[in-house]
Amino acid sequence: MQFMDVAALLAGIGLFSLGASALACLLFGARLARHSNRMALLRWMRSLSDHTIFKKSDASPAANHPDSGDSRSRDVAIPDAPQGPAVPPISATSERSPLSASLSEDARLLRQIGAEMYQAGDLSTKPSLYLDEYANLFGPVRELPLRIFEIGVQRGVSMKMWEKFFPNATIVGLDGDPQPSGFPQSPRFHFVQAWQDDAAAMQKAVQLAGGPFDIIIDDASHLGCHTARSFALLFPYALKAGGYYVLEDICTAFNYPSDYDAAPFNPPVIGCEGMPKVFPSHQHGMVGLLKQMVDHAMAPTAAGGYTQFPIQRVCALTNIAFLQKA
Ligand SMILES: C[S@@+](CC[C@H](N)C(=O)[O-])C[C@H]1O[C@@H](n2cnc3c(N)ncnc32)[C@H](O)[C@@H]1O
Repeated sequence: MQFMDVAALLAGIGLFSLGASALACLLFGARLARHSNRMALLRWMRSLSDHTIFKKSDASPAANHPDSGDSRSRDVAIPDAPQGPAVPPISATSERSPLSASLSEDARLLRQIGAEMYQAGDLSTKPSLYLDEYANLFGPVRELPLRIFEIGVQRGVSMKMWEKFFPNATIVGLDGDPQPSGFPQSPRFHFVQAWQDDAAAMQKAVQLAGGPFDIIIDDASHLGCHTARSFALLFPYALKAGGYYVLEDICTAFNYPSDYDAAPFNPPVIGCEGMPKVFPSHQHGMVGLLKQMVDHAMAPTAAGGYTQFPIQRVCALTNIAFLQKA
């Protein structure tokens, strides 16, 4: 082989490697672009799902119902849940503690205001169990210029009740339905028409109030999915540290089959024989959501700090819970 032939061969090999490298770069670049496009797509989809607006109409009784065949909402099989007999009762007592008789002045006042505001037979009337706890927790500060947000205000009756009980508070009400005629007006009232999972509407509520809230009350759809969305939007950003988030009508989680995320109540055995690792309990709807919140409240003991939902106190009463932000 002559010198010229060798040079041509080497040049050919060089050109071939250059071409192969260029092709590899092109392929790698395209893959990288596809990957980053996919990441962008994923980010976009996530942002979409973060802002998906659930309407009351989304809560169709068939969709996601435990019996609908949707495996995501089926009861999860609970391993190691012994079915042994409950602990036998020692003796029942009918003696009442004097603690049960205490009704504060504030509770008396709020009961009285409630009775004046709600007409007899109004299904939205807040029960005295609710009112008494509102009064016990918030009575001592009721004259402060608090910011209160109620989600689900219907005809504005509860807004009027809060206006009277909290004489210096700013009260924002939100409802998916437009204000009916005769909706109460007050210089201390603001109204937002929106569904409870509308992030922009929640921001507007904070702006109207002039800052984050001291008390947020959810009395809207009472479905776990909606309630969870409002909570996720509001608790970390729109509630002051030390403020309270209130969930009303939690026991809708047992309204089976009328409420789509409900399931029948099945009293879990407490103290059965054996040592269960998983304690069977109701996981559906708002009762399930409340139990998630208990996990977040316990977070510092396991994670060394709070999660993005810093719940310091869970005060759960029959059908209502008060969650205090750390
Ligand atoms: C029980 S009523 C509220 C009663 C009111 N808090 C009172 O005590 O006078 C429930 C209200 O929540 C509203 N609502 C139901 N689902 C909603 C949702 N997903 N978003 C916003 N409002 C909703 C209804 O339109 C209704 O007016």
